[in-house]
Amino acid sequence: MIYKNSNAQYYLRTYAQLRNYPQESHLIYRVFVREAPRDGFLLDLGCGPGGHLKELAKMTGDTMRLIGMDASRELVELSSRDSLLRGRILNADLTTSWPIASQTVAMAYTVFNLYQSLTGQVKRRRFLLELVRCLKPNGVFLLDAHNERVFRRAHPPGIITKLRIPHGSCEIQSKYIPNREVKEVYSCFKVSLGQKQIVIRNRHRMMTLGLDEIAKELSKYGFRIIQAWGNWSGSPFRTKSSERIIAAFIRTP
Ligand SMILES: C[S@@+](CC[C@H](N)C(=O)[O-])C[C@H]1O[C@@H](n2cnc3c(N)ncnc32)[C@H](O)[C@@H]1O
Repeated sequence: MIYKNSNAQYYLRTYAQLRNYPQESHLIYRVFVREAPRDGFLLDLGCGPGGHLKELAKMTGDTMRLIGMDASRELVELSSRDSLLRGRILNADLTTSWPIASQTVAMAYTVFNLYQSLTGQVKRRRFLLELVRCLKPNGVFLLDAHNERVFRRAHPPGIITKLRIPHGSCEIQSKYIPNREVKEVYSCFKVSLGQKQIVIRNRHRMMTLGLDEIAKELSKYGFRIIQAWGNWSGSPFRTKSSERIIAAFIRTP
């Protein structure tokens, strides 16, 4: 889903509250330092408000070449007001051609379900072909997605489940589309904004791929898995119990 208009404005008050940008950025940085080729860009795919880029910029000063892309013009405008992010974020739809030169990216990452939301062979193929074009030889790709086994237990289809967030609450309901590897997740955030309460309703369509299926799909584009984690604290991935799939891949020429 591409956040538009007031949804973009409220992203920081809603989804961003479910995140730990410093912790997530540390894991990304560790993978970059250990695995990625030297002298390339670190590229954030679907960077939203730029939470990770900002942490990475703080951590590394001017030593790192950071760039982000997002299809939401409003989120790009909002994040570009931040002096640490100015000039680093491009407005682009990742299912079309990317405004990035070939073989210039050392590592690309996408956090919080963007890969999962490319529901359709054509969109995922375009995304992956552009990724392959932009990565340097031995470039790294890191993605994160729901671990379906755990998500389904935590949010059983049709049942409304509740989460607390710092400025309010969120209700989540999921629906699975029969005979297709797709689910729909409905969320309703109720968030305080000064004296006012705002209500934001979203519907996301997402693939329900497991780690094996993601790895198999990426192997067709020359990627080999390096490591997988089950949360952003860096615990190893376990199919039955890990909340998320966070996986790093390398693309050998
Ligand atoms: C759940 S948000 C995650 C944002 C950010 N990575 C974070 O962790 O806060 C997903 C982001 O992907 C962007 N997005 C969705 N589809 C996209 C597409 N086809 N091209 C570029 N960005 C897209 C949305 O606008 C949104 O900002």
